[in-house]
Amino acid sequence: MKTALITGVTGQTGSYLADHLLSLGYEVHGIIRRSSTINTPRINHLMDDPKVFNKKFFTHYGDVTDANNLNDLVSKIQPDEIYNLAAQSHVKVSFEIPCSTANVDAIGTLNVLEAVRNHCPKSRVYQASTSEMFGGIGYNMPVTGYTEKSPFHPRSPYGCAKIYAYWITKNYREAYNMYSCNGLLFNHESPRRGETFVTRKITLWCGRFYQQMKENTYYGNFKPLELGNLHAHRDWGHAKDYAKAQHLILQQDTPQDYVIATGETHTIREFVDKCFEYMDLKLEWTGEHENEVGLLNGKKVVCVNPKYYRPSEVDYLLGDATKAKQELKWKPEYSFDGLIEDMMDYDLARYDI
Ligand code: NAP
Ligand code: GDD
Repeated sequence: MKTALITGVTGQTGSYLADHLLSLGYEVHGIIRRSSTINTPRINHLMDDPKVFNKKFFTHYGDVTDANNLNDLVSKIQPDEIYNLAAQSHVKVSFEIPCSTANVDAIGTLNVLEAVRNHCPKSRVYQASTSEMFGGIGYNMPVTGYTEKSPFHPRSPYGCAKIYAYWITKNYREAYNMYSCNGLLFNHESPRRGETFVTRKITLWCGRFYQQMKENTYYGNFKPLELGNLHAHRDWGHAKDYAKAQHLILQQDTPQDYVIATGETHTIREFVDKCFEYMDLKLEWTGEHENEVGLLNGKKVVCVNPKYYRPSEVDYLLGDATKAKQELKWKPEYSFDGLIEDMMDYDLARYDI
């Protein structure tokens, strides 16, 4: 039986990864942060179910900025595999807290690698790298999507911190012969997605709206859905599929880096349209830039609020996961429509009274 340690286990993807590894028979340890409110809803099902997983799922207080704590945990647990998913992962927020983002996302990764190098150098390490490192700028955008060989051009403090983490992971592989790999994952979403990321913000709003519509009150004072850049493109997959890819990356004979993506890209506005279609509603769009609005029967239900714009934006993301498909035999199960269905079903039911 293998043992895994997950940093960021309380997050969206960390929780799916824990589900997946437990289903494969792993003993799973997760690092959770102390917080003044409960931060374990995504893993409560693992902590609460004595029959299925409890004997194999363990949580430990910790923080990736606390090197002593990591050294202690890694030396005691001696994990076969470590998945470093802990991060300040919100791109817009990283412009407001660049230093703490760098401490967690860049130096936190170094702390993980050092703990492994000092206490269990044979452990395999997965680093949660990101499509944000590519930057989505015209000049470096291959027509068929970014690959493992594409150049980086980060557009946020988050992207810059993740570039350090990417290179230090690669450097420890080259310098110390460690099995440390980067997964360069494009956006992945789910019903467990944080509520301030754009997809979840949209599906949650739809859930509330749907409820009011059923009660015939939506022509009242319903607050429109306020968004920022409606025309950014994202290559969106399902977090469940991406957690499986993370595991596969650590099962190869030689440590390597892999792009994980669907190979399809859509705008934020398309995502909104699809969610409305899922409710059997059709939006009409009018206006431009800050004045662009989505109308339903002539009434404004979606609008732009420039406060959600970013100082520098990643306009276009499309990934090419050919290497992962060929070498890992990874294939996503969820389509774009399937992802929307899963998220919408969850959030429509959430507000169903
Ligand atoms: P998420 O939902 O924001 O989860 C982040 C996790 O990191 C949470 O468990 C959080 O704990 C934890 N964390 C934050 N600061 C920490 C610290 N100082 N020490 C220990 N834990 C800390 O993010 P996600 O969507 O699951 O993404 C997982 C990882 O993949 C992140 O590294 C992210 O940057 C990267 N990534 C995500 C995507 C994507 O589209 N989702 C794409 C590419 C890469 P709390 O619950 O206590 O806040
Ligand atoms: N969050 C948010 N809120 N984004 C909005 C909004 C809004 O109201 N309106 C438009 N957007 C646009 C953003 O400007 C961006 O272009 C796009 O929607 C996606 O934003 P997010 O959902 O916040 O995700 P992200 O692409 O910036 O970052 C996510 O994906 C990265 C991988 O590419 C995060 O999960 C990162 O951690 C991850 O590395």
